[in-house]
Amino acid sequence: MRLQITPTNRMEGTLTVPGDKSISHRAVMLGSIAEGTTEISGFLAGEDCLSTIKCMQALGVPIKMEEDKVIVEGQGLGGLQEASNILDAGNSGTTIRLLSGILAGQPFTSIINGDASLRKRPMGRIIRPLMLMGAHVLGRGDDNYAPFAIRGGNLKPLTYTLPVASAQLKSALLLAGLYAEGWTGIIEPIQSRNHTELMLNSFGAHLHKEDNIIRIEGGTPLRGQKLIVPGDVSSAAFFMVAGLIVPEGHIILKNVGLNKTRSGIIEVLQEMGASLNIRDIYSTAGELMGTVEVQSSELKGVTVGGEMIPRLIDEIPILAVAALFAKGITEIRDAAELKVKESNRIAAICQGLQRLGARMEELPDGLRIYGGQSLQGNTCDSFNDHRIAMALAVAGLRAQGDTYIEGAEAIDISFPGFKETLNMLAKGDNHGDQR
Ligand code: S3P
Repeated sequence: MRLQITPTNRMEGTLTVPGDKSISHRAVMLGSIAEGTTEISGFLAGEDCLSTIKCMQALGVPIKMEEDKVIVEGQGLGGLQEASNILDAGNSGTTIRLLSGILAGQPFTSIINGDASLRKRPMGRIIRPLMLMGAHVLGRGDDNYAPFAIRGGNLKPLTYTLPVASAQLKSALLLAGLYAEGWTGIIEPIQSRNHTELMLNSFGAHLHKEDNIIRIEGGTPLRGQKLIVPGDVSSAAFFMVAGLIVPEGHIILKNVGLNKTRSGIIEVLQEMGASLNIRDIYSTAGELMGTVEVQSSELKGVTVGGEMIPRLIDEIPILAVAALFAKGITEIRDAAELKVKESNRIAAICQGLQRLGARMEELPDGLRIYGGQSLQGNTCDSFNDHRIAMALAVAGLRAQGDTYIEGAEAIDISFPGFKETLNMLAKGDNHGDQR
């Protein structure tokens, strides 16, 4: 599908962004291995999270989607059944990696696969420690790529230092730790998103965090519950930047997830001079959420790296767009992980924005962006990556002439209704609500 973006001077309105993708996956997985029913409100019905639902259903978990809720009939830690076919994680790294942690604890064989993008992404980082815990795994490319087969059961606890700041790896090991006898310890040199830890706590797991070590005790049953999924700050970020860069921008984003391990984009945009006002903060099952009010602002370039990177890893493509409209140079470093996301996001965003006339450079671990330029509409490609498609769409709002994004169907991975929301805000309609 080709998405046409017509430039606009105005973006105005109020919206509730769709549910958080990371939290939606976790809610379905933990609900599936808990005892009793889990009722999830605000679930993101994007393709990635639907892949998780289909995998859990294939493993024998009854899951119903109602209009505004997902109901999961938990089977308990030991209640999953061998699937009769290959499990398909689609485009979703979170599905394949977290589910592998659960499958490592099952006394049966599972084969898991994904689409062409997922089959290129590194899986050795989860396969190796799961093997150390005692799971039998056999994967393509010397156990580095999907498809791979897992025969689990009888896991031993492990103390493991994460070699990359990856919440997906950390979560896979925490989930496997539920099936190991005794305490599994995970040492996290740089903190990544902590949704799994918060949700495991609220499901009743025995989990402790001390400094940078997280410990989990195996064998404790989880309790099903009612969960509210906050709006996804990663989806909200596209509209934060849209509201900042158009001359007449004023957008109110409601129910935005504000978990500190995810909200780096808000801090960096504020450092760039953005008017982002946060209010009405409240907490649900340990997750913070609130309202973010955005007003068009003059931005300045910034340098981002180090411990900030995992706190805004998925927002770097849209941060690059904000940087184009800032005064001065922006440099993003320590972000080599971007090369192994749904696309090589360093190359994809650089090539996409360059087609609109942007002056920017790829660095081995990031990007250098020269701000204060004018863009020209052009045809560009999503690289089958939802966040690249949406970042290019926002850039197109400030180009001269229309921009066309090929492969825009990828947006449904995380933000069904993105185009309608964009059109609604460009018209200044005040009643948008994507839930
Ligand atoms: C995610 C963690 C991040 C992020 C991804 C979702 C999660 O990946 O990029 O979109 O839900 O845990 P890594 O943990 O591999 O960095």
